[in-house]
Amino acid sequence: MKKNRINYVNLSKQWSKESPRLLNIIKKILSSGEYVNGKQIPIFEKNIAKICNTKYAVALNSGTDALVCALIALGIRKGDEVITPPNSFISSTSSIVHIGAIPVFVDVLSDQNIDPIKIERAITSKTKAIMPVHLTGRICDMDKIKKISLKYKIPIIEDAAQSIGSKLNGIPAGKWGDVGCFSAHPLKNLNACGDAGFLVTDKKSIYTKTLSLRNHGLVSRDKVKKFAYLSRMDNLQAAILNFRLKNLQSVILQRRKNAKIYMKHLNPEYVKFPVSKKNKIDTFHTFVVQVNDRDKLKKFLQNKKIFTAIHYPVPIHLQPAAKYLRYKRGDFPNTEIQSKKILSLPINQFLKKEEIIKISKEINRYYEN
Ligand SMILES: Cc1ncc(COP(=O)(O)O)c(C=O)c1O
Repeated sequence: MKKNRINYVNLSKQWSKESPRLLNIIKKILSSGEYVNGKQIPIFEKNIAKICNTKYAVALNSGTDALVCALIALGIRKGDEVITPPNSFISSTSSIVHIGAIPVFVDVLSDQNIDPIKIERAITSKTKAIMPVHLTGRICDMDKIKKISLKYKIPIIEDAAQSIGSKLNGIPAGKWGDVGCFSAHPLKNLNACGDAGFLVTDKKSIYTKTLSLRNHGLVSRDKVKKFAYLSRMDNLQAAILNFRLKNLQSVILQRRKNAKIYMKHLNPEYVKFPVSKKNKIDTFHTFVVQVNDRDKLKKFLQNKKIFTAIHYPVPIHLQPAAKYLRYKRGDFPNTEIQSKKILSLPINQFLKKEEIIKISKEINRYYEN
């Protein structure tokens, strides 16, 4: 990496730290000839079920597929409504659209997570699921959302793509809902070397349906009861993830430490940043601040070779693909205002303390001048 440059992510550093050990694992898998449905899959699923404290986990091809499988396994169908926020990555919504259901957006709170009060207001006779998104690695107000789910008997699909290891009141992401969906995309805290994802559940019916959904609908080698999809995780990705799982807690710890350094050094007069609550373990998949003049600040930092990101600059209800849903600008004020203020600062586990202090100081300096 070029000197004095602070990249947003640092996957090459991860590789250089792991490569001697990881290359051995990769060699082993490739020489075994066991590429799909291999032994690493049940090991990975056992590991994940333990972290999420669930009875079952199913390894899949991506977080997006996990959401699609969860919706289908719960019996969501064409015309059903699913409540979800408009400030997520597009696939929270596209998974709902893929199966012919209708995404019903509700606005978010100042912490970027879905507003439980607005969930309750959006419920109709057609509502068949609630899909909260634990954005940035911070769990939504699941205690309140769970109460709504029980009151109206509407299942919860957690989009926990960004929040492996996050907790609220000691309960992990993925355990709160009927099903929890995760991504192991290369930029996630637990990352594969390509696309990968998984879901977790305590419900046997969801588990067995997803096993079939991910494997063409086959119930045995030559028998298919219902045509389905192909969404298996590769044995190689599972092996890589099993290796990286050993380090997950230290990745989370380092990101939490990095966040604390930001919180100490950023001037709250200029920069709004997430306040960590005592009953939550935030895992900081991203560290998102809210600032005025965001685009200019981003450019200013870039000129100083500090690279940031925006998750996500265009709310889903304002995407061209969502036009048919007939939402308009102004429908979700918090989401829309935040989309202009949010900036994801580098938070990866390879950053040095001095780099985080430097980023904080440059940001403060930008506003002081
Ligand atoms: C909130 C959220 N939902 C869903 C996904 C989809 O995961 P994947 O990219 O593994 O399909 C992501 C990943 O970027 C995400 O951040």
